Amino acid sequence: MKKLTVANIPGDGIGREVVPAATEVLNTIAAIHGGLKFEFTNFPWSCEYYLEHNQMMPDDGMERLKDFDGIFLGAVGNIKLVPDHVSLWGLLIKIRREFEQVINIRPAKVIKGVTSPLTNPRDFDLIIVRENSEGEYSEIGGRIYRGEDELAIQNAVFSRKGTERAMQHAFHLASRRKKRVTSATKSNGITYSMPFWDSVFQDVAKEYPEISTDSQHIDALSAFFVTHPEKFDVIVASNLFGDILSDLGAGIMGSVGIAPSANINVNGKYPSMFEPVHGSAPDIVGRGVANPIGQIWTAKMMLDHFGEEELGNTLLEVIESVTGAGFLTPDLGGNHSTKEITDEIISRLKELD
Ligand code: NAI
Ligand code: MG
Repeated sequence: MKKLTVANIPGDGIGREVVPAATEVLNTIAAIHGGLKFEFTNFPWSCEYYLEHNQMMPDDGMERLKDFDGIFLGAVGNIKLVPDHVSLWGLLIKIRREFEQVINIRPAKVIKGVTSPLTNPRDFDLIIVRENSEGEYSEIGGRIYRGEDELAIQNAVFSRKGTERAMQHAFHLASRRKKRVTSATKSNGITYSMPFWDSVFQDVAKEYPEISTDSQHIDALSAFFVTHPEKFDVIVASNLFGDILSDLGAGIMGSVGIAPSANINVNGKYPSMFEPVHGSAPDIVGRGVANPIGQIWTAKMMLDHFGEEELGNTLLEVIESVTGAGFLTPDLGGNHSTKEITDEIISRLKELD
């Protein structure tokens, strides 16, 4: 029996509605598999927790999380109780940083039954691998003077180590997919870091002769996401370019409620964290209509990470069979509830058994 320990942090708002739904789905999958068991531990860390304890997680919070196989997070944020920068930095961003989750992965694909805003989305199916620890989001720089002479400098930081590990991850993913990696660059305009990025890309590509590669400038690449997203398989991008591309990816899918993500620790020292792209959605909380698919697809990414790709793929097929049959929450133009979607996914999974 393969036992996997997972720390559940539902967080705030609809996180508390979709995490239990996705957990039920994972338990169903484990039961069908037979040789797999999840052991979930729930942590109540959230804005409500903050009101009571004056912190988003206890002092030993990170210590308590570090030995889990994975962290399954819902969403963090309730501005009625705690300012966003306090809640996000005290929990979500703290975990990403301290657990060295240096790569962020976001897939985007056409999901059956979900209308893309593109008139002709064809059948795109891509993954964005974003370098998540350095690049343009560095803390090096400063501001001086006031008024006319005022100036600000923000340095971008690209290390060989950081760049290589993101690229290696991208090639590794592509080797199990359509065997193509696109590098997002801008070496025609950014004259030090991006030529460096390009040369590291060429070096890493040599280790994977079976993978075809190309480099695209970020501006043209963004346009291609809209005109020909089906041409891409895996895209590797710096922190800033990856941030923008992944929102574009969620955008062309049709709803933020279905988009998943993973924050990957690549050195194996700490667990990775899996979370949907959406936030706590205070405008729909408590109505039972939150789309659980972002969280359930996130569960598929966690299965992949645990080496259970076959189960992960089955889960995504079942999600699409449900949406394809017209089971949709209101954000997708339907009138089904969180529970109805979840129950339908679970019952179709059981039929496969
Ligand atoms: P949001 O993603 O929570 O909501 C944006 C819009 O999308 C809302 O209209 C919401 O109803 C809808 N939506 C989101 N997820 C949905 C789902 N699963 N099903 C149906 N509709 C869904 O973003 P917003 O409103 O900017 O932020 C709300 C709070 O969430 C803030 O406190 C923010 O800081 C936090 N947040 C947290 C994130 C995280 O934990 N990773 C990410 C984004 C926001
Ligand atoms: Mg973003």
